[in-house]
Amino acid sequence: MKVTKTIKELQACLAEARAAGKTVGLVPTMGALHAGHASLVRRSVDENDVTVVSIFLNPTQFNDARDLERYPRTLDADCAILEDCGAQIAFAPSVEEIYPEPDTRHFSYPPTDEVMEGARRPGHFNGVCQIVSKLFAWVEPDQAYFGEKDFQQIAVIRRMAADLGFKLKIVPCPVVREADGLAMSSRNTLLSPSERALAPRIYEALVASRYFAQSHSVAQTIQYVVSRINAVEGLCVEYYSIVDADSLLDIRSWDEAASVVGCITVYCGEKPIRLIDHIRYK
Ligand code: PAF
Repeated sequence: MKVTKTIKELQACLAEARAAGKTVGLVPTMGALHAGHASLVRRSVDENDVTVVSIFLNPTQFNDARDLERYPRTLDADCAILEDCGAQIAFAPSVEEIYPEPDTRHFSYPPTDEVMEGARRPGHFNGVCQIVSKLFAWVEPDQAYFGEKDFQQIAVIRRMAADLGFKLKIVPCPVVREADGLAMSSRNTLLSPSERALAPRIYEALVASRYFAQSHSVAQTIQYVVSRINAVEGLCVEYYSIVDADSLLDIRSWDEAASVVGCITVYCGEKPIRLIDHIRYK
């Protein structure tokens, strides 16, 4: 695997691949790779001739400086995982390489980027669009792979890609879970052992709510999930929204949308660590 640090090096590697008529898959990441990322990379390797994985802790998408500061940084281990998955190119640039000047572009895709995470993390999706649009422009991938754990992020990136006329296919990949149901996330490593023991209760409540929802309203199901999780000392729900999976707008009755997803953010522990997850009702 070739590890590139500059856009020039990256594009030189890609020019060879393109000249040979090869297809290119892109997996954007912020590093601290785990089995969830590995599943995206393996899928890209299966479906493309060349897979590029970017490892860049993008400062413009962090609205909380503490969150950026404590985000795990594990470049050597990340490269070992990528080698093992069969990726051909890693792109691990510096902040100066990506943002020699501040990125003043402003992306706005209401309501997709305004609800849920968008309402609680001002500027977050703008930062995601800044970096992902740069990567799409530099790499020109045929396909780009994103984990469905960040359900809302995929919806925002789809809007951005359509808006800017990128011709690639966006491939959403299923959430990978630990054996106890906790959705894999780079932030899980920040949990203490006692916090880690509480975290699976989030998905447990979401799964139980699917059964509860069969005989209760949307509002009652939201209440059920929130009170069940808040009853666990050390967990505190920031929001639970049951939304139309396409528009991401809240629904009031189950028959209001063809596909329905419940999206949750929970604070876990003292620091606290912010964990997100979702479940599909239909
Ligand atoms: O999902 C992530 O890890 C990041 O938001 C992404 C897409 C790599 C952009 O920095």
